Amino acid sequence: MLDQGAPPHNPTDTTPSSPGVAARLMRRKPVERLVAEGGQGEGGALRRSLGLWQLTMISIGATLGTGIFVVLGQAVPKAGPAVTLSFVIAGLTALFSALSYAELAGTIPVSGSSYSYAYATMGELIAWVCGWCLLLEYGVSVAAVAVGWGEYLNELLDGTIGVTIPASLSAAPGEIDGGIINLPALIVVLLAMVFLLGGAKESARANTVMVCVKIAALVLFCAIGFMGFKSGNYANFMPLGMAGVSAAGATLFFSYIGFDAASTAGEEAKNAQRDLPRAIMLSLVIVTALYVLVAAVAVGAKPWRQFSDAHAALAQIMTEVTGQSFWGTLLAFCAVIAIASVVLTVLYGQTRILFAMARDGLVPKVFAKVHPKSGTPRANTVIVSLFCGVLAAAVPLGDLADATSIGTLFAFALVNVAVVVLRRTRPQMPRTFRVPLSPVLPALGFLFCIWMMGSLKRDTWVVFGVWMAVGLVFYFVYGYRRSRLATPAPSEK
Ligand code: ALA
Repeated sequence: MLDQGAPPHNPTDTTPSSPGVAARLMRRKPVERLVAEGGQGEGGALRRSLGLWQLTMISIGATLGTGIFVVLGQAVPKAGPAVTLSFVIAGLTALFSALSYAELAGTIPVSGSSYSYAYATMGELIAWVCGWCLLLEYGVSVAAVAVGWGEYLNELLDGTIGVTIPASLSAAPGEIDGGIINLPALIVVLLAMVFLLGGAKESARANTVMVCVKIAALVLFCAIGFMGFKSGNYANFMPLGMAGVSAAGATLFFSYIGFDAASTAGEEAKNAQRDLPRAIMLSLVIVTALYVLVAAVAVGAKPWRQFSDAHAALAQIMTEVTGQSFWGTLLAFCAVIAIASVVLTVLYGQTRILFAMARDGLVPKVFAKVHPKSGTPRANTVIVSLFCGVLAAAVPLGDLADATSIGTLFAFALVNVAVVVLRRTRPQMPRTFRVPLSPVLPALGFLFCIWMMGSLKRDTWVVFGVWMAVGLVFYFVYGYRRSRLATPAPSEK
């Protein structure tokens, strides 16, 4: 007897149609079906309105933010001036994976990003695991980033009007003494929600302005910071050895998260197959160049030991070098804008990934409902925003950046595998971008990701293990039974 959940026969899908749990867990969604369903939601379709420029800005928007403005300050004490090397290592890890993303985004241009790539190549269970990791990469990082936004907002208020938001209203309970609710974090998430409800094009426009501001701010930082550059600050380049460099690299990997955000816009891009690979690669190159430059200037302008008690480190350096608080305040203002755009674009990515998962039946259908007027998944946007907002406002997020990194690294590792699998199973598929030297570079990408994961703390692994266990329970209770692969694709009915 045929398993009810076995996929209908499709010559393009190599999943065995044998019955049983294993076959169901490994059922793959054919690329053609993924692409044919692209854009379609419950009750409407997403609108294709984004070109190469906007897609690149979405990726840069999601990437440049807390990592460089906040986390850099925490990473310097781990590696010393060699933090520049840490950025290069984290950037290489991102680069190998970005190549794989670029190939898959051009071949399978849908909104689910790596979740969809895994579904097409490694089967439903791995796809679910990947999607669940993406919840860490996107959903949880929105909350972590929103908290960083609050820190810079306080810096800005202090520098301009001389007041700061009291701890009771700017920190979650348990985060610092007297914390009750992190109101700024909640507010920035709700603001992003309002933009997203307006439509993808409108959000992309606002994001583009914010990205220009943040790039200008970092260039200004380099120009001013360079005036305070002392080569003596580099005298002891690697004070904590290679272990320190790789530990800082793993922490700084957070700053690269988001370059893949364009791949969540596959169903709203005007020419997804051509533009997605370009947007991903372009954004990574721009961001890496900026990071290495900013880090080199920062540790040249301030002795590395003094970073351990630095809060908004870049703003402080601006003030110290010029001797005028105006410049620090200006940088804080730009950081507030910069980090808001991360919240906006990462929130956007999260809604689109859930959209794809809901269309596949693995999470509730409400996430795939499209509003007929705006062409956006409105209910999805509201639910995700409220969830992230409450998380940011009420949960102490101390080590959340690392938890986000581990989930992302795992998803990236899977994308590197997916690219090789698809080359083997579908060698003839047209590809607008091909990873050079495959399978060597995807294998390196995979190994780098695993190495970085190994550099993260034990506690982070525990959080990751618990997260995965919860995800698997959810899958077996919900998605396993409701997966739409159990029903024929519209064209096959
Ligand atoms: N890469 C993003 C940031 O640094 C998450 O804020």
